[in-house]
Amino acid sequence: MTLGRDILRQADELAAITEAPGRITRSYLTPQHREAGERIRAWMREAGMDADFDALGNVVGRYAGATDDAPLLLTGSHMDSVVDAGRYDGLFGVLSPIACVRELHARGRRLPFAFEVVAFGDEEGVRFGVSMIGSRALAGRFDPAMLDKRDASGVTMRDALVAFGGDPAAIPSLRRGNVVAYVESHIEQGPVLLDAGRPVGVVTSIAGSTRVRVRIDGLAGHAGTVPMGSRQDALAAASEMVLAIERHCSERAGTLVGTVGKLAVVGGGAINVIPGAVEFTVDLRSGDDAKRLAAVADVEAQCRAIAGRRRVKLAWDAFFELSAAPCDRALQSQWARSIAAQGIEPMYLPSGAGHDAMEFAALAPIAMLFVRCGNGGISHHPSETMTAEDADLATRVFLHFLEHFEPPPVRR
Ligand code: HGY
Ligand code: MN
Ligand code: MN
Repeated sequence: MTLGRDILRQADELAAITEAPGRITRSYLTPQHREAGERIRAWMREAGMDADFDALGNVVGRYAGATDDAPLLLTGSHMDSVVDAGRYDGLFGVLSPIACVRELHARGRRLPFAFEVVAFGDEEGVRFGVSMIGSRALAGRFDPAMLDKRDASGVTMRDALVAFGGDPAAIPSLRRGNVVAYVESHIEQGPVLLDAGRPVGVVTSIAGSTRVRVRIDGLAGHAGTVPMGSRQDALAAASEMVLAIERHCSERAGTLVGTVGKLAVVGGGAINVIPGAVEFTVDLRSGDDAKRLAAVADVEAQCRAIAGRRRVKLAWDAFFELSAAPCDRALQSQWARSIAAQGIEPMYLPSGAGHDAMEFAALAPIAMLFVRCGNGGISHHPSETMTAEDADLATRVFLHFLEHFEPPPVRR
């Protein structure tokens, strides 16, 4: 139980490193990223790893294999958070494998592969609007145009990275070769394991997602003098669109989810002014890419029809796209074997949340282990919770997985 307890204590320490006292918010290339990264780097080194920040601000710990030419097994998760987050999203997938290495090192055990644990600096995309920055780079999928993205104060990612001590020119060299697999342990962020009374589960696939920025331009006006029939109210139009998105996805529940997570009247709005311009975001996800892409097209068409009827302009910017990622079956069976070795009957479930593992799906076989969340499975929220027992069990599953790992057949 000590493994689990130590991990929760470390997560508590990292939760105190936040941009907003009283809430957990830690975004990319901030002083909090640096402070939390230094803490994680120290834990990696104490566990017997070579560890340091890389050119993008990821913290990478390497536990060398039994031979210099050993292939690489990669794991990790993200150390950044959403705004007002929970304390385990991402970080559990960093702290748990570090605890495994500490156990192996204490026994003087080397594995037939090199093992790298990566704390990715950005997965959530809060600061620059583009996400999975670190995992894209290690998977060789980094788009240099991302360096020109600006944060809310107009700072480019490139300038923030240089100020952080990163090196934009070295990003291409971060791509990993000779990767036999990428595996990730992560809290489920939902209620399925909790409802099933299971502490851990094997992920079968990770849902794909499309993120859209929408801007509605109508006509501002005096709230008291403009007749209702002649208004071009941007907020009323946006509201009708939000409900249309919800209806479209509810009619396809089980295969599609849709969320409008942010909506704002441009300029802040006023009680006695008809809203002239509104911006909102759309997040559409499905385990089936064809269904998701069809939904994006359908929902856009419905929003355009609403805009036409209400005589407002609509700008639709689908700025982010990630395909659904199936988990390797051989690796799923190895997770299941390690779960069964703890006396637990393995359970399989899909992931509705996105994870860094998706970025590696084209590079190597991927697989994930889910760990039960308490409080109804809530996540991306300060009520996110997990027990020390489950943290301990999941870590012992991971350790067994490592000690019995068999590289999946090389894909042709
Ligand atoms: O949005 C997601 O699914 C992940 O938490 N970034
Ligand atoms: Mn998250
Ligand atoms: Mn996450």
